[in-house]
Amino acid sequence: MALQLGDVAPDFTAESTEGTIHFYDYLGDGWGVLFSHPKDFTPVCTTELGEVARLKGEFEKRNTKVLGLSVDPVSSHESWAGDIKDATGQSLNYPLIGDPDRLVADLFGMIHPNASDTLTVRSVFVVGPDKKVKLTITYPASTGRNFQEILRVLDSLQLTAKYSVATPVNWVDGEDVIITTAVSDEDAKVRFPKGFKAVKPYLRYTPQPNR
Ligand code: BEZ
Repeated sequence: MALQLGDVAPDFTAESTEGTIHFYDYLGDGWGVLFSHPKDFTPVCTTELGEVARLKGEFEKRNTKVLGLSVDPVSSHESWAGDIKDATGQSLNYPLIGDPDRLVADLFGMIHPNASDTLTVRSVFVVGPDKKVKLTITYPASTGRNFQEILRVLDSLQLTAKYSVATPVNWVDGEDVIITTAVSDEDAKVRFPKGFKAVKPYLRYTPQPNR
């Protein structure tokens, strides 16, 4: 059965462009984004890997380690890194796992046989400090991912882990958030001293509490 939200992400040991990776050790106490791509030396993947390298500082600000994977071997990733630099201007600054035996791909269900028997799909797993899966996204090979969206979700996950709030449609960091329905109005006055606006009894907006 596929990994679902709230499941514990499996630990693994694998070879990468930065040597042997022990997944849990690599994540430490922070957050992680594990993402697979279908194949080395392919155009969409080249743009994605360059973009993740460009955004590495943004992930670090969120105490988040990134880790890429494909079923090509590490030796192939290492040659491809030169092309990624030429094409995007970005040096690969995070590990890319080589998974020719599909050990990690199978653990995480990154091969979808009805899409392709041999290639990993574009999966994203966000893993929390408790090693539980907080987000899964699956894209087809023909569509590059939006890594700004992954950052946006990390902002939401990290905020909602600390406060009794949820984030509304298209929310980005800094915008008003929603007080969860488990919190009474009485309690909300204490917990959210900046106040709140009730559009409906169950839809109450408050300024982002950590701003
Ligand atoms: C790409 O990254 O461009 C790609 C990879 C596999 C299949 C199709 C496209």
